[in-house]
Amino acid sequence: MKQKIVPRGTMLAALDIGSHKNACFIGRVVDDQGGVEVLGVGYQASQGIKSGTVIDIDSADQAIRQTVHTAENMASAIMKGFPLRDVIVNVPGTQTQSHNVQITVDIDGQVITENDISRALVKAQNQVITPNTELIHTMPVHCRVDGHEGIRDPQGMMGQSMEVDVHMVQGDIGPLQNMANCVERSHLDISALCSSAYASGLACLVEDEMNLGCTVIDMGAGVTSFAVFQGGAMIYSDSIPLGGWHVTNDIARGLTCPNNDAERLKTLYGSAMVTSSDESELIDVPQLGEIDEHMPNHVPRSLLIGIIQPRLEEILEMVRSKLDESGYGKTVGRRVVLTGGASQLPGMRDLAQMILDKQVRLGRPIRLSGLPDAVSGPAFATAAGLLTYAASHHHEMPAEIIASVDNGSLFGRFKTWWRENW
Ligand SMILES: Nc1ncnc2c1ncn2[C@@H]1O[C@H](COP(=O)(O)OP(=O)(O)OP(=O)(O)O)[C@@H](O)[C@H]1O
Ligand SMILES: [Mg+2]
Repeated sequence: MKQKIVPRGTMLAALDIGSHKNACFIGRVVDDQGGVEVLGVGYQASQGIKSGTVIDIDSADQAIRQTVHTAENMASAIMKGFPLRDVIVNVPGTQTQSHNVQITVDIDGQVITENDISRALVKAQNQVITPNTELIHTMPVHCRVDGHEGIRDPQGMMGQSMEVDVHMVQGDIGPLQNMANCVERSHLDISALCSSAYASGLACLVEDEMNLGCTVIDMGAGVTSFAVFQGGAMIYSDSIPLGGWHVTNDIARGLTCPNNDAERLKTLYGSAMVTSSDESELIDVPQLGEIDEHMPNHVPRSLLIGIIQPRLEEILEMVRSKLDESGYGKTVGRRVVLTGGASQLPGMRDLAQMILDKQVRLGRPIRLSGLPDAVSGPAFATAAGLLTYAASHHHEMPAEIIASVDNGSLFGRFKTWWRENW
């Protein structure tokens, strides 16, 4: 279905609240295809977030505030001193559920309009709305008119009835309210929410991958989120509450060294798969509580990798089994794009290829212009995708869909909720 692009010149801001780091990107829409030029970026270690969920509002709020200020300062010349007013924020996969429903609407021989599609989407939303969840995405995936398949955009066609397969993502209200609370303390409104995995897919996948079928896997610090795309839309998403932080923690326990050293050893000497040369290479491991840093333990590199590999295998096996259970594992293409900070270990691509039995490539943000090198890596896929979502996918927001078919009570309910909660 047709994309709606926000007008050229619109300023947008995205905030990715992660378990390892927060990132804020400020950008401006520069063309009529939804291209975004990045004008300001800020990122720093997050605090008070575990597995994507706020567990300490005060420290999370401080880290978010500093991240946003850094981005604002960088973009200040273009923003002419005006502070940011609203941001689009990610929702981690650990707080979302993905649903697919099939909806039929009567057309009665008339021409199908945008309103008919919105009617179908609202009907779908009504089926899944519950008091403890908030709808985050509503997307039409496939359309059939009088049983005819393969229709990309039914607008303008005539028929008796239209069937729409609708994909929806819902978020748990409690964690969302805590996150909104943190953002609000930075004097920002939330203009939209977007699932982390969806944003990463929008940032890293090329159009053919989205159309033909592809799974994007974002391995972060506390969450591994994944989303399946087909026919240009996201059709399924899920997550595992494990990521790079768990790998680091395993190293700290396995080699009895402080967490900071474990993180350093992982990024300097780590790898996703052991090779024969790793046996002979020795690395220095600072010992827990040892004051004399000249007395490190010498261990073979293979010991370090022997700790890393099983955890990564566990995460990838869990992703595989969730994909298989969903029914999309075998049916949707053989293509996987791996992104997120934890995808950067050498050998990750080969390990993922072996365990998922798919063709794997590493992904990083490809759609934004002017992205500084420091934030162009896989850890920034979600932040980059949030800007793309805001520029060209905002019509998938449940609030906009409801607003486009003002059927009274439901819109009123949503408006009240929105006002009270954000
Ligand atoms: N060069 C590297 N090699 C291996 N791992 C790395 C590298 N750089 C970063 N990481 C790991 O990536 C993880 C952080 O990834 P990312 O920034 O995508 O997480 P996040 O978005 O903050 O967290 P989440 O999405 O889980 O809430 C950390 O566990 C870190 O150890
Ligand atoms: Mg992340």
